[in-house]
Amino acid sequence: MHLTRDEERVLAGEYGEAMAEALTVIVRVGEALGAERLISIKHAHISGVSYDNIGEPGRRFIERLYVAGAKFSVPTTFNPVSYDLEEPSSIPSLKLDPNYVRAQESIVRALAAMGAELELTCTPYYAGVTVKHGLSKGDSIAWGESSAVAYANSVLGLKTNREGGPLALMAAIAGRTYYYGMHIDGERKPRIAYYVESPNPLDEAEAGVLGEIIASMHSDERPPMVKAKFSGDPSIREFLAAVGTASDIPMVHIEGVTPEDPGTGVREVVKITYEEVRGKLESMAPEGPVDIIYIGCPHASLEELEHLAKTLEKLGKPRTPIIVSTSRSVYTKLLAAGLAPKLKNLGVTIARDTCLIVSPYTKHNKNVKIATNSYKAYHYLKRKGAKAYLTKIHEHLQTNP
Ligand code: F3S
Repeated sequence: MHLTRDEERVLAGEYGEAMAEALTVIVRVGEALGAERLISIKHAHISGVSYDNIGEPGRRFIERLYVAGAKFSVPTTFNPVSYDLEEPSSIPSLKLDPNYVRAQESIVRALAAMGAELELTCTPYYAGVTVKHGLSKGDSIAWGESSAVAYANSVLGLKTNREGGPLALMAAIAGRTYYYGMHIDGERKPRIAYYVESPNPLDEAEAGVLGEIIASMHSDERPPMVKAKFSGDPSIREFLAAVGTASDIPMVHIEGVTPEDPGTGVREVVKITYEEVRGKLESMAPEGPVDIIYIGCPHASLEELEHLAKTLEKLGKPRTPIIVSTSRSVYTKLLAAGLAPKLKNLGVTIARDTCLIVSPYTKHNKNVKIATNSYKAYHYLKRKGAKAYLTKIHEHLQTNP
């Protein structure tokens, strides 16, 4: 791999041991992949920071870097953790023992001391990081959360591979990543297109199912292209999160959404029928009433919560309690708009910094029936042994006044 003089100095330890270690890891992975050089990044987003997911080995790894004096060289954010740091009991029946809390706190403290911003969200793009750090189309970043990676490449036109949590952390310290995959313009051009014609724009649940179908069909190394009608940004987010859940695809070129030229290399078109989407969704839906409705995987946007408040004002307080996960940034805006207390009065629990999947919620609530509009939440909740169902939430609210 070609390295600049400055990169060689970093490797020689002139900028400290931690920086040398981080760049060594990036160079080794890059060489294994055949990358010819490194590239500077403008932002990093680290996944795998919930104590529930990474346990003691992960905590010790992060703590060791902090003790070694590691500092992030670029603006860095990280994913949700295992409970709401501001209000630990915001998710009902979440059981946290003091040792567990101390361990999670030490992870957050170490990341903050290395320079991370405390957004604690999987949707850093709703927390304003693009504006705050001047990120624009074509910029290279290193993000680790699969749903955020897909959104960054496909909707924002940013360039990132799907980094593992530790690699995004190393890239944040080194300020660089390997020039490979999604950082190379030619590698982003689709060769296979998937067309779906639906009677109405696909809502979040349908979009998630479509994401799973495309992920299971697509085996080309280049990103797929998709032509479909989505009902809005939350549907596109759920579609991309589902693709990221069901495959390791880092980008989907969505016609009319992705802000870059797909080129002229599409050589195969695959048609997917709406009936296929509807049939799969029906097989994942609940048959009777559920105990909880869960929204906000990936973390909900302000517009989505404003829409939810309007819907519930019209329909009245639902019989089924609703849990929403979002970022602290969006929650602050909800408070400023007077909507947080309104949603609470309408039976909505809002959890910041966390979600039902990366918290220990399912450990103590295996028999709770959870309906969600998120394919990703459905997939992981089921994998954790919960009774989860994928459904059209707004229809569900109407049938459960
Ligand atoms: Fe985010 Fe948790 Fe879903 S981290 S993407 S809300 S699994």
